[in-house]
Amino acid sequence: MEKNSSVENNKKTWSGRFNEPVSDLVKRYTASVSFDYKLAEYDIQGSLAHATMLSAQGIISNEDLTAIENGLNQILGEIHNKQFVWSLDLEDVHLNIEKRLTEIVGDAGKRLHTGRSRNDQIATDIRLYLRTSIDTIINLIKAMQLALLNLAEKHTDTVMPGFTHLQVAQPVSFGHHLMAYFEMLKRDIERLSDCRKRVNQLPLGAAALAGTSYPIDRTLVAEKLNFEGICENSLDAVSDRDFAVEFCACASLIMTHLSRMSEELILWMNPSFNFIELADRFCTGSSIMPQKKNPDVPELVRGKTGRINGHLIAILTLMKAQPLAYNKDNQEDKEPLFDTVETLIDTLRIYADMLTGVRVNQNAMRQAALKGYATATDLADYLTKKGVPFRDSHEIVAKTVQFAEQKGCDISDLEIAELQKFSKEIDEDIFSFLTLEGSMKSRNHIGGTAPEQVQVAIDKARKLLS
Ligand code: ARG
Repeated sequence: MEKNSSVENNKKTWSGRFNEPVSDLVKRYTASVSFDYKLAEYDIQGSLAHATMLSAQGIISNEDLTAIENGLNQILGEIHNKQFVWSLDLEDVHLNIEKRLTEIVGDAGKRLHTGRSRNDQIATDIRLYLRTSIDTIINLIKAMQLALLNLAEKHTDTVMPGFTHLQVAQPVSFGHHLMAYFEMLKRDIERLSDCRKRVNQLPLGAAALAGTSYPIDRTLVAEKLNFEGICENSLDAVSDRDFAVEFCACASLIMTHLSRMSEELILWMNPSFNFIELADRFCTGSSIMPQKKNPDVPELVRGKTGRINGHLIAILTLMKAQPLAYNKDNQEDKEPLFDTVETLIDTLRIYADMLTGVRVNQNAMRQAALKGYATATDLADYLTKKGVPFRDSHEIVAKTVQFAEQKGCDISDLEIAELQKFSKEIDEDIFSFLTLEGSMKSRNHIGGTAPEQVQVAIDKARKLLS
C-alpha cells in the first residue's frame, strides 16, 4: 500500500467543502481499502453494468461507455497482474478504481458515478461477492458429502457402539453414523440456497438513500448482473445487511456440524478408542513427547468454529442500533464476512481430503460395542414382544446387566439357565438377538441402522449429488 501524507494527497474526492485534511490516524481508521480491495472484481462488474445502463438511457454517451469499458478492463488486468497500486489516501476500493479510471480515460471516468453512490455500490459489491462465495461453498460441501458417502459405503456392515451421553448405548453401523453428517450437510446446502435468493437482489439505483433523479433502468442493471430481483426500497437497499447475517448464521451451523465431527474424530483417534487413524498429513507431532500424533486439523476446525460464531455476533451487533439509512458502521461488515467465507472454504477443502484418508479399525469398534452392554435394549424388546410390559422388561434387563457386570462378562456370554433366572420368557433363540449384528439388522426401517437401510440411504444420497 502506498503511503503519502502530503497535503495535496490528503485532498479527498469528497473534500471540496472541508478546510483541513484528516490526520493520518483518522485516515487509517476510516479507510477500508486494506480489506475491501478484495471486492475489486465485483466492483468492476457492477460499474460495467451501471455504465451500460447509463448509456442505454442516454445519460452518458456511447463514446463515454466505450472509454469506461476499456478503462475498467485494463484496471481488471492490472489488478490480476498485481500491478495496480492501492492507495490508502483513496480510502476504499471504489475511489481507488474510479481515480485510476479517470487517469486512463479522462472525463468519461468522472461520469461513471452519475446516478450512483458508494452506498448502493458497496451493497451491490458485497452481494455479488457473497453470491459467488455461496456457490463455491455449496460445491465444496457437495465434495465433502461425496467423501462421506464413499467412506460410509465401505462401512455399512461395520459395527460400532452408538453413544448417548458418550456412554455405549446401542450398536450402530459406522456407515449410518457417517451418513448422519451427510444429512446435516444436506440441510446446510438447503439453507445456503435459500439465503442465496435474498442475497441475489439488486441494490444499485438506490443511490445514497433516496434513489436518483436520472432516468435509470434498474431492471436492465439487474439483468446484466444476473440478479433475480431488485431491492424494492431504496432506504432498505443501502442500509440492511440482514443477508450477510443470514449467511453468517448458515456458516456458523456448517462449522458447528464440522466441529461436532471433529470432536468425534479427535475422540476416535485417542488410543483408548483407537477407532480410526487420520493420514499423517493432517496431524502433527509433539516437540517433547515422541509418541504423540496430534489431530491438529480437527482441533483447529473445532477452534475456528468459535471464530465464525463470533463473526455472526459481530455483524448482528453492528446492525442492531443503526437508524435508516446507510451508516459508516456498515463498513465493519466486511472483515467478519470475508474471514467467514475464507475460513469456511479452507475448512471444507481440508475436510473432504481428510475424510478420504481415514483408516478404520473395525476390530476396536467391535470390541468397544461388546464391552458396553450395547444389546441390553434388544433383550428388553425381546421380552416385550413376548408379552412382558416394557417397563418390567427394562427392570429385568437392568438386573441381568448388573449380574453380568459382577461376573465380568457381556449378557450374550451368560448361560441360558442364568438368563432364565431373570425371566422365564427367555428361550435359546435369544442369542441371535443379543449379537451386535442381530441387533443392528433388526432396526430395519427408513432411517434405521440396519445395513440394508444404510445402503438405501447411501443410494438416495448419491442420486441427490449426481
Ligand atoms: N467503505 C464503505 C463501506 O464499506 C463504502 C460506502 C461508503 N459510503 C460513504 N458514504 N462513506 O460501507
